[in-house]
Amino acid sequence: MRNEAVVKDEVKAKVKATRGKFHLESYGCQMNLYDSGLVASILKNEGYQPTDSVEEAEILLLNTCSIREKAYERVYGRIESLAHLRRKNPHTIIGVLGCMAQSLGKEFFSSGLPIDFTAGPDNYRLLPDLIESASSNREQSQTGLSLLHLSRSETYDELRPSVVTGCTSFVTIMRGCDNFCSFCVVPYTRGRERSRSPYSIVDEISSLPNVSEVTLLGQNVNSYCWKENFHFHDLVELILKETDIQRIRFTSPHPKDFPEELLDLMAREKRFCKQIHLPLQSGSSSVLRRMKRGYTQEEYLSLVELIRSKMPFVGLSSDIITGFCGETEEDFQDTLSVVEQVGFDTAYMFRYSERKNTSAAKYLKDDVPEDVKLIRLQQLIQEQQKMSALKNRLVKGKKFEVLVEGYSRRSQSSMTGRTDSGKTVVFPLEEGHQPEDLTGKLVQVEIEGSTSATLHGRELTTCLKIT
Ligand code: SAH
Ligand code: SF4
Ligand code: F3S
Repeated sequence: MRNEAVVKDEVKAKVKATRGKFHLESYGCQMNLYDSGLVASILKNEGYQPTDSVEEAEILLLNTCSIREKAYERVYGRIESLAHLRRKNPHTIIGVLGCMAQSLGKEFFSSGLPIDFTAGPDNYRLLPDLIESASSNREQSQTGLSLLHLSRSETYDELRPSVVTGCTSFVTIMRGCDNFCSFCVVPYTRGRERSRSPYSIVDEISSLPNVSEVTLLGQNVNSYCWKENFHFHDLVELILKETDIQRIRFTSPHPKDFPEELLDLMAREKRFCKQIHLPLQSGSSSVLRRMKRGYTQEEYLSLVELIRSKMPFVGLSSDIITGFCGETEEDFQDTLSVVEQVGFDTAYMFRYSERKNTSAAKYLKDDVPEDVKLIRLQQLIQEQQKMSALKNRLVKGKKFEVLVEGYSRRSQSSMTGRTDSGKTVVFPLEEGHQPEDLTGKLVQVEIEGSTSATLHGRELTTCLKIT
């Protein structure tokens, strides 16, 4: 008689081999995109097959964001638009993952939308079980299932999601956030801060196929800490030493505790890109206090001065919110003034939208009228676009080393890539040059023109090597 365990394994393997197809859509930030890679690798390990087609999939998964009201609206709209697939095939399973799943959980099931389960960001290892239970639940007409545990230790360390686009990849180095900025939902959707092991990060980067650049991700990379005394700059140094990755970027650091060692390392190491995303949020010290950001306007400006004193050509970008609780016209003018003084290369700008659970929702009044938030946002965007266009005009005639990422979005006869400081450059493909030979390589490009978002140039030399 055959051993029972062997028979069980055979049955398992057979079940795995006949598992269905899943379609996974990702909304929100790069960390969500990385998590979608984790989810895909967990499901593929269990025999599920990915598909780009919603029509073909038996399992539809949406990895959602809840940072602003708009993110909610997008996801609700998308689920509504998928409802017809359920009517066509009643066996189709729809699952909501990510931050919105974590913050709404079971509330989703009373929304009238066809949702079988919700799972927050720390519960993805249990997805195969959840999918199976959701199928049998449906057969018994039971309501949806929710997995919403927030872990203090889950980092999915040994998984290798491989979120590669062209020759660049994201690598999450930590999860969660402990900062509790008063406007922000992230600590409630992603839980407490925890760092991945440096060995696992190095191993993941080394195993990425044909990747020349990695962006290290965390909600506040300055807080990266392994075993109490191994910090973010130690991690970057280790990656530089142990891997031959050509370029390293990161996002985001927090202005309140920016480590000077990191600036020195960046200034010293050619492979560590001179680009910093430094979220300002507001230029008014009293708004910053209410936001619980932990720095004042003056401290932010001195940090920018310190950064530029070490790296005059650093690329600086930011996140800015208009119309936060109690923001006066004078506060807003402070924001415009900081934007003008710093001269960010780019910025992501939003109007404040109150989020459930946050301390602003509990203790502050969302008292700036929506039309005022919007007018300020438009004014800010206009100001920033002028600044971006001006900064881009200033580099006309300059030469940059560009890491080529692939075809430009608009044309197959042009290539695109980024400078060390993070600016997007588009240049025509020279006659006789093959796109596949350039992708992942450094080329020297002379800038001939620009818009507020892009530099345009021509290729001078191909295939420089960073040493
Ligand atoms: N960890 C990053 C930010 C992540 S969220 C940091 O500390 O900067 C990305 C951006 O969304 C934030 O920087 C902020 O500008 C914006 N944001 C977050 N909550 C918001 C809200 N309630 N309303 C409007 N914008 C918000
Ligand atoms: Fe949100 Fe602040 Fe954490 Fe950024 S640092 S994720 S804004 S709480
Ligand atoms: Fe990212 Fe949105 Fe969650 S910005 S961390 S997916 S709330």
